[in-house]
Amino acid sequence: MKGDNTLKFDKAAESPLEEQSLDYIEAVAGKFPGYRRAHARGNCYQGVFTPNGKAAALTDAPHLQEEAVPVIVRFSNSSSNPNHSDGLTPPKGMAVQFILPNDQITNLVCTNIPVFFARTPETFTEVLELAASAKKGVPDLTSFLKIAKQVPESTAFIDLMKEVRLPASYAMAQYFSIHAFYFINSSGRRQAVKYIWNPDEGMSTYTKKDAIKLLHNFLDEELDERLESGPAGFTLNIQLGNEDDPVDDPTIEWPGDRQQITIGHLSITGKMENCPDDLVFDPTILPQGIECTDDPILHFRHLAYSASSDRRLREKEGRGKGDQASI
Ligand code: HEM
Repeated sequence: MKGDNTLKFDKAAESPLEEQSLDYIEAVAGKFPGYRRAHARGNCYQGVFTPNGKAAALTDAPHLQEEAVPVIVRFSNSSSNPNHSDGLTPPKGMAVQFILPNDQITNLVCTNIPVFFARTPETFTEVLELAASAKKGVPDLTSFLKIAKQVPESTAFIDLMKEVRLPASYAMAQYFSIHAFYFINSSGRRQAVKYIWNPDEGMSTYTKKDAIKLLHNFLDEELDERLESGPAGFTLNIQLGNEDDPVDDPTIEWPGDRQQITIGHLSITGKMENCPDDLVFDPTILPQGIECTDDPILHFRHLAYSASSDRRLREKEGRGKGDQASI
């Protein structure tokens, strides 16, 4: 499979920001018809989330009371290029869709890095534009980070990226929501929270040197094998923000001493044959009892994920649905 790296820049200037950002992603990483424009390669798994009731005082959200709910989990390599090897891009994604008792859904979309590199959609798009125009051949992570460095707010992200290592398993990494959300309880009290998934198996990583020797889809195979001998589990924690903690800035982590509460457990039981074509993990789809903060990146994701999904569904039309297991 080969990506088409050409971009019509004149077209980008006319289109909404989310379309421009996707055009720049395609210019940087290549165009891979039918694939997500970010986190292109991944697999879906089924599982069950069991809340422990400890969030009930803070939120009315149906999946955070007492009853267990089914979930779909998608683990993904963060690269927009589905051919990129697991070992080359340590950032990984864990997207969870909770199927609520009323058949509605809500999504919690996390990565193993606790901050993002841009505070606004405009900065995000500018960094990609710079990367697209600087590009000679497919830029690697190091050259992308050099460009991101031009944005002062990306310091925390860049420092973490220098340290992040490939997880030994998708089931052996911590995953963070990055964004804050509001929990709202039956009395209308609002509490800002961030989410953290903690793996039952603990955390383990590869050194950079070992990571590049691994197979292209090493993590997919590792998880397949792991699930043959039983479920993979994560506990879900929330971190409670103080009054002064920023709720609209994904480039800043809250201080590590903020109170954390464990609110439930996820058990991943098996792999799905295919990810449904129309599965979109929009992080702004929230039930009663949870609301978005004013974080502009969070709101922009709603637009970008929808535009990406439109592109890939259009591309898949006529090619036969469900024919690529790991899209
Ligand atoms: C300007 C901000 C961002 C943009 C424009 C963006 C863009 C995208 C796009 C286009 C997709 C593919 C959507 C689809 O086709 O279904 C995607 C997937 C994903 N993004 Fe982002 N993203 C942004 C920020 C973030 C942040 C802050 C996180 C971390 C919490 C994140 C984590 C993920 C994950 C885990 C996936 C894979 C979801 C799946 O498995 O379907 N993204 N992103």
